[in-house]
Amino acid sequence: MNFPKDFIWGTATSAYQIEGAYNRDGKGVSIWDTFCHTPGKINDNETGDIACDHYDKYEDDIKLMTELGISAYRFSISWTRIFPEGDDEIPNAKGLQFYDNLVNCCLKNGITPHITLFHWDLPQTLEDDGGWLSERTINAFVKYAELICEHFSDRVEYFSTINEPQIITRMGYSTGQHAPGLTLPDDTVLEILHSLAKAHAAAVRAMRKCAKRKIKIGFSSTGNLCYPSTGSKEDIEMAKKLTFSTNKEDFLFCHQIFCDAVILGKTCEYNRSWDDVEALNPPLDFLGLNIYNGHEVSSDGIVKHGIGFARTVTPEVLCWGPVFMYERYKLPIIITENGFSCNDHIFLDGKVHDADRIDYLTRYINELSKAIDAGTDVIGYFHWSFTDNFEWHSGYNERFGLVYIDYATGRRIPKDSFRWYSQLIRR
Ligand code: FCB
Repeated sequence: MNFPKDFIWGTATSAYQIEGAYNRDGKGVSIWDTFCHTPGKINDNETGDIACDHYDKYEDDIKLMTELGISAYRFSISWTRIFPEGDDEIPNAKGLQFYDNLVNCCLKNGITPHITLFHWDLPQTLEDDGGWLSERTINAFVKYAELICEHFSDRVEYFSTINEPQIITRMGYSTGQHAPGLTLPDDTVLEILHSLAKAHAAAVRAMRKCAKRKIKIGFSSTGNLCYPSTGSKEDIEMAKKLTFSTNKEDFLFCHQIFCDAVILGKTCEYNRSWDDVEALNPPLDFLGLNIYNGHEVSSDGIVKHGIGFARTVTPEVLCWGPVFMYERYKLPIIITENGFSCNDHIFLDGKVHDADRIDYLTRYINELSKAIDAGTDVIGYFHWSFTDNFEWHSGYNERFGLVYIDYATGRRIPKDSFRWYSQLIRR
C-alpha cells in the first residue's frame, strides 16, 4: 500500500457515544438523553449516561491515542454542554472548559483535533419548540457554530458542520429508530433535510467570517455506494449510475440528496421543491465520507449474492466510493468513518484478539490506496471508532473500537487491531 507522507491517519468518536456525564457541569438535556430514558427505545434500555466515561478519562484516552500514533482525532462537541437550551444568551463556561482541556491535551500530544459540531445530539428544548422545522433551530445552530469557531479556531483548523444528514432524517424522523423517534411523512422529512442544508450553509458562512485564521470546513456524508464486479467499462458505468440513482424505498440513504445541494447548488429527483439551492453551497474545503459497505454491480445491475455472503465486508467500496464521489464533487476527501463491529471479548490470556477486524481493515485500506493511485484526492482516514462505545439504538451490543471497553470497570484494553493500525501508521 502506498500513502502520501502527509496523509492524515486518525480515529473518530462522537460525544454522546463516549462521554457519559450526561447531566454534569451544567449540561442540558439532548434528544438522545430523552430518547434513551424512554423505556423500549434502545436495546436493553441502555443509555449513554455513563458510556465510556470519556468525560473523566479523556487524558488516559489521549495518552492511548499517542501510543497508537495517530496524527488526528475526530470528535464531536455536545451542543447542550455549550448551550444547555440550544440558544442560551451566554455559553456554559464549564462545557467550554471541557473541550478546551480536550483540545489542549490533543495539541500537547501532537494530535490534530477535528471538530464535528453536530453528531445528532440536538438540544431537547429546540426539539420541543419545533426542532428542525423551526427557524429557531437553524438560527441556534448558526449561533453555536459561530461560538465554537470563535473560541477554538486559534487552535483548531478542521471543522465539520453535520454528521450524516441522511441518517439524521432517515432514522430520527422517518423510521423513528433514532432520537427523537418520529415517523413523519416523507414531505416533512424532506423539509427537515432542507433545514439541515440551510443550517449547514449559514453556519459555513458565519464561521468563515469569525475564524481567527484560515480554517478548513466540511461535513460528513453517507449513503448508498456501488462498486463494479470487474474493471470493464460497462460494469464501472453501471456502478456509477446506480450509486447516484435513488432507490424509491430508501430515498434518504443517498449522497446526492444532500451533497448535490450543498456542494453543487443543485436539486436531485426528490428535493426539486428546494427553491434556494443556489444559495446553499458556500465553498467547502473537504468532503467527509462515512463508508462501511456497498453493493456489487455488473453491467446488468446489482449482483445478487447468495445466503452467507459477507454483506458488511465489501472492501472495493473504499476504492470506488471515493473515486465516484471525487469525480462528481471534486473536493478533497477525508474518510471520516470506516470500521467493523465484531463479537469481541477478552480471551483467557487477558487480551482481545480481533483477527476479523484486522482482516477487514487490511482489505479496506488496501482498496483505499488504489483510489489514491488512480488520482483520487483522499487526504485522510479516520477509523470508527477509537474505543467501543454506545452504538445508538443497539446500545452496547456492537463493538467498533480499536480499544476494548470493559464497561463494568471502565478498563481500556487495546485490541490486536490497535497494534496492527499502529504499525500501519508508522510504516
Ligand atoms: C455511523 C455513525 C457513527 C457510528 C457508526 C457505526 O452512522 O455516524 O456514530 O454509529 O455509524
